[in-house]
Amino acid sequence: MKTRIGILTGGGDCPGLNAVIRAVVKSAFKRGWETLGIMGGFEGLLAPTNSRVLNYHEMDGLLYLGGTILGTCNKGRFSGKTGHGETRQIDPDVLVDARAGFESLGLRALVVVGGDGSLTIAQQCFEAGIPVVGVPKTIDNDIDGTVVTFGFDSAVSFATDALDRLRSTAQSHDRVMVGEVMGRYAGWIAAHAGIAGGADVILIPEIPFHMDAICRVVAEREAEGKRFTLVVVAEGAREAGRDFVTMGEAGAIREARLGGIGAVVAEAIGRGTGKETRVCVLGHLQRGGVPTTFDRLLCTRFGASAVELISKEKYGYMVAHHPPDTSAVLISYAVGRLRTVPLDGDILRTGRALGISFGDRSPASS
Ligand code: F6P
Repeated sequence: MKTRIGILTGGGDCPGLNAVIRAVVKSAFKRGWETLGIMGGFEGLLAPTNSRVLNYHEMDGLLYLGGTILGTCNKGRFSGKTGHGETRQIDPDVLVDARAGFESLGLRALVVVGGDGSLTIAQQCFEAGIPVVGVPKTIDNDIDGTVVTFGFDSAVSFATDALDRLRSTAQSHDRVMVGEVMGRYAGWIAAHAGIAGGADVILIPEIPFHMDAICRVVAEREAEGKRFTLVVVAEGAREAGRDFVTMGEAGAIREARLGGIGAVVAEAIGRGTGKETRVCVLGHLQRGGVPTTFDRLLCTRFGASAVELISKEKYGYMVAHHPPDTSAVLISYAVGRLRTVPLDGDILRTGRALGISFGDRSPASS
């Protein structure tokens, strides 16, 4: 009988999911294997299972199609995260049912494409006896064990383009424009897009900010004759001594939704400087659409590597990017620890060297 592997996409959608699916299906096909798409995330493994055969020829055009043709889910019986770095143990009966579903589909292995929540579930499935291989996905770039996740470059590219647009309106109106970007508890998108987009202030979760430091930047620019200021705020940024700004409480099996800090910062800047200030929340626009060239290539390499791992029976591993190569790391190593922007790393040093403020009061930052 033909070797058959499964693939599912879990958690939030992200540019490049379909490119990974395409690479897995094509490289499996070249080995004479069949690929089954599990629909709607892990839920598709539970009886009655929900899957379909993915044909080689239907992969045409998937390289650049946004979203996921398999559907995805970040809530329900397989919700893996409930808070800031906290993971949830999936009900053992659900894991037993997932394994039964996996076996009923005649699968040799399962490729799980997901962020740290989905990879945490993948690890639990692996421990429950399902041969799993992971592919790290997230625009947040917060998964340990790989220097980059796919989707990040596309989100940064979109956010940078948005900042260029906010700059031109800020400049025309002599305003302060505040752009709020995603990233959860890591400031990768804000830091990269902020520097690439020429922001004057970048607020990230890793550095609690002070409103007076931000207002000082606006005032200093004003004194230099620069009558506009561009501020980037990560959704997980918080004022020193204050909590994260969220849109609703965390549920028993659901993480709290971050968001709203941009409006808080904009209001405080307006009050503190007297400048007309506007906020723009980029939100889910960062997750949609076409993956960048970098992401297409990364997704294709990740998909091919995942199939190679299966051929070597290297289960419980996740593909990873360690330039110039793709490699493999244990999923158990990568999950459960948040990869944040290093305070002494090149990205923040570059920003500070250019005089960008990170909202802290250290002399180097302002
Ligand atoms: O993890 C990706 C991400 O887009 C985060 O940046 C954001 O906090 C979260 O997902 C939003 O999730 P949802 O789609 O459930 O609103």
